[in-house]
Amino acid sequence: MAAKPILKMGTPSLRLPSADWPLDRLDSAELRRLLADMRDTMIAAHGAGLAAPQIGENVRVVIFEVRENPRYPGVVVPYTELVNPELSFPDDEMEEGWEGCLSVPGMRGAVPRHRRLHYRAWTPDGERIERSVDGFHARVVQHECDHLDGILYPMRMPDMSKFGFTDVLFPDLAPYDDD
Ligand code: NI
Repeated sequence: MAAKPILKMGTPSLRLPSADWPLDRLDSAELRRLLADMRDTMIAAHGAGLAAPQIGENVRVVIFEVRENPRYPGVVVPYTELVNPELSFPDDEMEEGWEGCLSVPGMRGAVPRHRRLHYRAWTPDGERIERSVDGFHARVVQHECDHLDGILYPMRMPDMSKFGFTDVLFPDLAPYDDD
């Protein structure tokens, strides 16, 4: 396992819908290797999440984790691995928030997302996982799952005046990379 190069916006495969992970290949060395590569890549890049298509694997696998981080004060999301995630929204309430993406390095944009989210998925061990979340946790999952449908966050932005360079918008965050 090793950190992999992260594909950047403009790479055609980032725009493709990804295929379901085959359920007969849960609990496999192949899936664990992919997840280990994803985790190493996310950690090396100081990211909050990563989707398999960002390292060139067009399968429906995402990971995310927010530890104590000056970029997300007061936010902690446990390390989570989701295979074939399915999202549903308990209501229509939306909330705007700043996002970055390792595939759009150096940039930030304000993106409306559903405030509340219910998600279900397989774990790599072949168990079911199901959570109701809100706020930043809900935002990260929506962002990562968008990657599985070929959607990058700038495509969700209604107001491009709220799109800019991280070091200009948030000079205090300059030592950090993007998520
Ligand atoms: Ni992203």
